[in-house]
Amino acid sequence: MALLEVDGLRVGYGFPVLMGISFEVEEGETAVLFGLNGAGKTTTVTTIAGLLKPDAGSIRFNGQDIAGKRPPELVSAGVALVPEGRRVFPNLTVANNLRLGAWSRRGNHKEVEASRALVFDYFPRLAERVDQAAGTLSGGEQQMLAIGRALMSKPKLLLVDEASLGLSPSLAKVVFQVMAQINEDGVTVLIVEQNVGVLPYADRALIMEKGTLIYSGVGEEIREANLRESYLGVHE
Ligand SMILES: Nc1ncnc2c1ncn2[C@@H]1O[C@H](COP(=O)(O)OP(=O)(O)O)[C@@H](O)[C@H]1O
Ligand SMILES: [Mg+2]
Repeated sequence: MALLEVDGLRVGYGFPVLMGISFEVEEGETAVLFGLNGAGKTTTVTTIAGLLKPDAGSIRFNGQDIAGKRPPELVSAGVALVPEGRRVFPNLTVANNLRLGAWSRRGNHKEVEASRALVFDYFPRLAERVDQAAGTLSGGEQQMLAIGRALMSKPKLLLVDEASLGLSPSLAKVVFQVMAQINEDGVTVLIVEQNVGVLPYADRALIMEKGTLIYSGVGEEIREANLRESYLGVHE
């Protein structure tokens, strides 16, 4: 049984967007979902996180049907989303943004403190800026904070929508390396990306076009150059 099993998922906004997609993510993997703008990547991860209701199909997480469950219930079950555009609360400090990420575990001070320490381990820059308003952070730091905030709920599955968008190549690499560390520490990761620089870190790649999955592969095959050229429009 895979940790995440999506089967025949159809979602839209009054008009169809996801045309019945099926894929799995095994526990312990880093999966990457690629696709051009408008392909349906955000629709996919926001539906998994419970923010949109599917029109048809099933989503199983940890063996349980979660399609249509509300986001708070899903956070408690172990699904956390880093939304596209890294929506941190700009007027709140780094510390308070992180605290909000732990709302599902309130009362559990020791464990929450341990998660906070872990986030500062992953992102030492956040520790240096703990009392700074999130809105004063750089784009890269805000992305770190958005990931850190999601980690405060102690997820089993971390969904990251456009992890590297707007970051410099070197900062994107830092984010990918930390994502790899988070994965190493036992969190299953699904990253939405348009940057093929993430491929070295991926166990599974999915490519989406116009609401359908046009490629799905695992292991070494996904690092072959023709994947980039055939599906991602990257020519080297
Ligand atoms: N809130 C929304 N209301 C109406 N249409 C939307 C909304 N969000 C996305 N769409 C449409 O759904 C399609 C897929 O969008 P999205 O899932 O955001 O793609 P991606 O993340 O791959 O860029 C696009 O045609 C987009 O215009
Ligand atoms: Mg998107």
